[in-house]
Amino acid sequence: MKICVLPGDGIGPEIMAEAVRVIEALDLKFEIEEALLGGSAVDATGEPYPQATAALARTADAVLLGAVGGPKWDALPREQRPERGLLGIRKDLGLFANLRPAILYPELANASSLKPEIVAGLDILIVRELTGDIYFGQPRGIEMRDGERYGYNTMHYTESEIRRIGRVAFEAARKRNGRLCSVDKMNVLETTQLWRDVMSELAADYPDVDLSHMLVDNAAMQLVRAPKQFDVMVTGNMFGDILSDEASMLTGSIGMLPSASLDANNKGLYEPSHGSAPDIAGKGVANPLATILSAAMMLRYTFGLEEAALRVEQAVKRVLAQGYRTADIHEPGTTRVGTKQMGDAVLAALQD
Ligand code: IPM
Ligand code: MG
Repeated sequence: MKICVLPGDGIGPEIMAEAVRVIEALDLKFEIEEALLGGSAVDATGEPYPQATAALARTADAVLLGAVGGPKWDALPREQRPERGLLGIRKDLGLFANLRPAILYPELANASSLKPEIVAGLDILIVRELTGDIYFGQPRGIEMRDGERYGYNTMHYTESEIRRIGRVAFEAARKRNGRLCSVDKMNVLETTQLWRDVMSELAADYPDVDLSHMLVDNAAMQLVRAPKQFDVMVTGNMFGDILSDEASMLTGSIGMLPSASLDANNKGLYEPSHGSAPDIAGKGVANPLATILSAAMMLRYTFGLEEAALRVEQAVKRVLAQGYRTADIHEPGTTRVGTKQMGDAVLAALQD
């Protein structure tokens, strides 16, 4: 059981240190090896996804990632930007299925920007296609045409790409409350008309799942109007990127949300849904819980260690119940802690 750990940039190394401590405390005999991704990799090797990292990531069973990016690297050519490293590893490992749960912990109901009655008990799973769509489509670029700059990207999906992510979503819905909402923009975009058609065809194989369709603009609205109407949502790479950030805010803090990106064999890359937060990097105040919960997803999806996954998730619930809060979720009457103290609290809760 080999885990490739990629701390990344910004708060990445700080939050990863806590997740690694949690994994080690489980005493499950994982082999953990570290490598560079993103800006730190660019600084060391000139590339955001270096060969050595690719070699390790390909042989590991799972990859645990902190976060990448920061203003320091924003001016670099696009191929060298940290984000390219992230897209590169997702594509290289064939991680087409991105699972982003948005769960509201009852203790954090006040941290949400929505009224408690709108979000109480919220539990949504966003299934985002991760290796296709306009994020990877060719041709793309910025060039001179007719005397002015011209920017272009290409949105496309094959039916097999849609079908495989559709199956992941239908299966997930089947294990949850049996409701799947497929999000598209079929009133304007042909690619997403195909998306809707293929999802509808798949529904025949899942009679126990109730499939509905929604246009992405409406979905964005419904997510803040009545988010609990959703169980599982499935959508393409770009819409999923946007809607998953929106959904995360319903829960109070993006600092709480884990994610899993899986290939067809449950090899996965696990990372918090949030970014590298350069503004608080190095200050020891970042919330490590999303990364710790990502490690729990890894135990569950790649290693099939459901019991260990639950143990970690219970420990996180316990520290919230005990009143420990990092700055992003702090409110009066709770105990404000830093990154490392939050890790300590989780470790203590694990032993209970
Ligand atoms: C995410 C991020 C990435 C994405 C960026 C950093 C490339 O926003 O994981 O959602 O767009 O996929
Ligand atoms: Mg995003």
